[in-house]
Amino acid sequence: MELIGVIGGGTMGAGIAEVCAKAGSSVLVLETTEAYADAARGRIAKSISRGVARGKISQEDADAAIGRVRVTLDMDEFADRDLVIEAAPEVEALKHDIFERLDAIVKPSGILATNTSSIPVIKVAGATKHPERVVGVHFFNPVPVMPLVEIISTLVTSPEAAVAVTDYVKNTLGKTPVQAGDRSGFIVNALLIPYLCQAVRMLDSGYASAEDIDAAMKGGCGYPMGPLTLLDTVGLDIALAAAESLYAEFAEPHYAPPPLLRRMVDAGRLGRKTGRGFYAYS
Ligand SMILES: NC(=O)c1ccc[n+]([C@@H]2O[C@H](COP(=O)([O-])OP(=O)(O)OC[C@H]3O[C@@H](n4cnc5c(N)ncnc54)[C@H](O)[C@@H]3O)[C@@H](O)[C@H]2O)c1
Repeated sequence: MELIGVIGGGTMGAGIAEVCAKAGSSVLVLETTEAYADAARGRIAKSISRGVARGKISQEDADAAIGRVRVTLDMDEFADRDLVIEAAPEVEALKHDIFERLDAIVKPSGILATNTSSIPVIKVAGATKHPERVVGVHFFNPVPVMPLVEIISTLVTSPEAAVAVTDYVKNTLGKTPVQAGDRSGFIVNALLIPYLCQAVRMLDSGYASAEDIDAAMKGGCGYPMGPLTLLDTVGLDIALAAAESLYAEFAEPHYAPPPLLRRMVDAGRLGRKTGRGFYAYS
């Protein structure tokens, strides 16, 4: 697998393009307008250059990696790609449209992957005539830093496609792949979101303060940050959407978003990105 395509050069797409290019792959990124394409180029170059400043990559290797990335507005250029990873916004209709078009353009041996966090991969695969070549490949933010990648096989994904993507993620990108079923939340969010929701319920009931809940989980479990600080970092709107998706899938009470989480999102207290969540940020 040498020719990689990435759909969308935003937060995740730029990170995925960066790690693939640094691993030696030729990367083509699709964007929608020249302005977004410029932003994607800037995002990728800036992040790779930051690695030079931190002594993690030589200037020569950074220049070579940046040289392996090209951003285009034309999906027809993706015909020769061995693997295309879609990282467009989390909108089901948009992903449907992208996969329908990719299926018609990318060569038959090319694998189509989605980085979706919450849309069942089979729904995206259903937009193609060849759902057996569609796999979920869920990277974590920030992609250059986080080692984990969840690989999701649907009921119809071909074992060969899953194995090929797993091999690329592990042996070329040097990441840690885990295999997950095509269920909302995969592994990480299915375990993490109930824990975060429970911390919000505990705070809301007056059982413990935000500071003490966070201190308890840091000091008692060795977690790098407490659950409420983590919610502020992830974004309360993102966590709410994940909880809603899990609850819609399983209808189990521990996935139900707590009312306080909803009210904070209603109030625009989304965490660090809005300057106020469970804590205030200047
Ligand atoms: N941000 C995260 O922490 C995170 C983590 C894991 C997975 N994800 C998933 O990754 C995907 C992308 O999320 P993101 O945070 O990078 O979003 P983002 O909004 O930062 O980036 C999306 C990019 O896609 C581009 N785009 C929109 N329509 C397009 C189209 N038709 N063709 C090509 N490009 C198009 C946009 O211009 C934008 O640059 C989503 O499915 C999200 O659920 C996000």
